[in-house]
Amino acid sequence: LHIDSIQRTIQVSWPLRVLFSDNLFDPSNLTLARVLASDDLRRTSKALLVLDQALAAAQPDLVPAITAYFQAHESRLSLVRPPLVVPGGEAVKNSWSYVADLHVEIDRFHIDRQSYVIAVGGGALLDMVGLAATTAHRGVRHVRVPTTTLSQCDSGVGVKNSVNAFGKKNFIGTFCPPFAVINDFELLASLQPRDKRSGFVEAVKVSAIRDRRFFETLEGEAEALRDFEPGAMRRLIRRCAELHIDHIVEGGDPFEAGSARPLDFGHWSAHKLEQISGFRLRHGEAVAIGIALDTVYANRKGYLSSAEADRVLNLLQGLGLELYAPEMSLADDRSQPMMLGGLEEFREHLGGQLSITLLRGIGTPFEAHEMDTRCILQSVGELQQRYAQAQARTEASV
Ligand SMILES: NC(=O)c1ccc[n+]([C@@H]2O[C@H](COP(=O)([O-])OP(=O)(O)OC[C@H]3O[C@@H](n4cnc5c(N)ncnc54)[C@H](O)[C@@H]3O)[C@@H](O)[C@H]2O)c1
Ligand SMILES: [Zn+2]
Repeated sequence: LHIDSIQRTIQVSWPLRVLFSDNLFDPSNLTLARVLASDDLRRTSKALLVLDQALAAAQPDLVPAITAYFQAHESRLSLVRPPLVVPGGEAVKNSWSYVADLHVEIDRFHIDRQSYVIAVGGGALLDMVGLAATTAHRGVRHVRVPTTTLSQCDSGVGVKNSVNAFGKKNFIGTFCPPFAVINDFELLASLQPRDKRSGFVEAVKVSAIRDRRFFETLEGEAEALRDFEPGAMRRLIRRCAELHIDHIVEGGDPFEAGSARPLDFGHWSAHKLEQISGFRLRHGEAVAIGIALDTVYANRKGYLSSAEADRVLNLLQGLGLELYAPEMSLADDRSQPMMLGGLEEFREHLGGQLSITLLRGIGTPFEAHEMDTRCILQSVGELQQRYAQAQARTEASV
């Protein structure tokens, strides 16, 4: 059969740059000014800045500092309006209205494709702002300044933007690399302990699938990390961000056209658990449970040795993370565990056949195309038992 056709390949190269700098809004810090300044010296770069409400409240000096920064650099930069303060956390992804509001601001202040939308906040806010920026005018430049451990080491340095819809995580979204990401470690100072900690999980994840040596470093530094020792946290963020970027750039599938998604190790149940828990669980907390579940599962199925499985579980616990949540055992109206719905949702999100990343060893992942639901439930039971024992020990020691 001959089909008349014209076939070409469109090649687009996207630079992906993540800068590390402390005290970003100190007027003498030129990092942001250099990122935004146009090569054309006659042109002033316009920016609309969106700020996470919890961060603004916890660091009241931040809004005045941002305003002063743009004033100090007014010959090259202009802030089109005072920082737009928007709620952070999952709530901002659970409603379309924040994206629509941002489109209104982008239109009102004439943010064009040479101007910038800057998002300063946690991963949820960055996901929402990224979606608004990459859809207005088919994409205006967006700069991310992540302010949680998780977003500095994982979500903020990637290429995905989204909000939730139809009760499903990240249903509406785009793949579009940010213009730049700037990580300022000092911005993490005001985080709640749980938000400092939950980002550690993504480092455990990426080390378990890509870098056994990094996993061993994390084991060695677990105590320092548990105490939020700044040097250990900086090392974790730097390496974890680098491994994520390397995976996106070198993994051969930056926009996830295939069915496999190794960076989502432990995520099929995590995304569902976040939703079933009404977002009581943070993303990182749910992923810790998801990794624990798939680790116990791989061990029970005979893929992963007990010694290696214990190391993964012990590291997560050593970092202060829980490995079980009661929501894992919640049943739907047909008495089916709700969490299992996450398997089909995960498959559907990617398309094609089910592909779940499991471990054969630390640093040695493989893709499983079938999951044994009985064994999943037995694994949940095992984690529940471990959890009950740990609780009993805590109660006995009080
Ligand atoms: N795009 C991706 O590739 C990708 C990858 C992983 C996760 N994610 C998404 O990231 C989100 C989770 O992000 P997160 O873990 O950063 O949590 P988050 O954005 O929900 O933030 C947690 C809380 O901390 C507050 N906060 C943020 N920075 C603060 C600071 N410096 N001081 C005080 N409070 C601060 C927020 O307002 C929020 O209440 C989830 O929606 C998840 O799906 C996206
Ligand atoms: Zn994640």
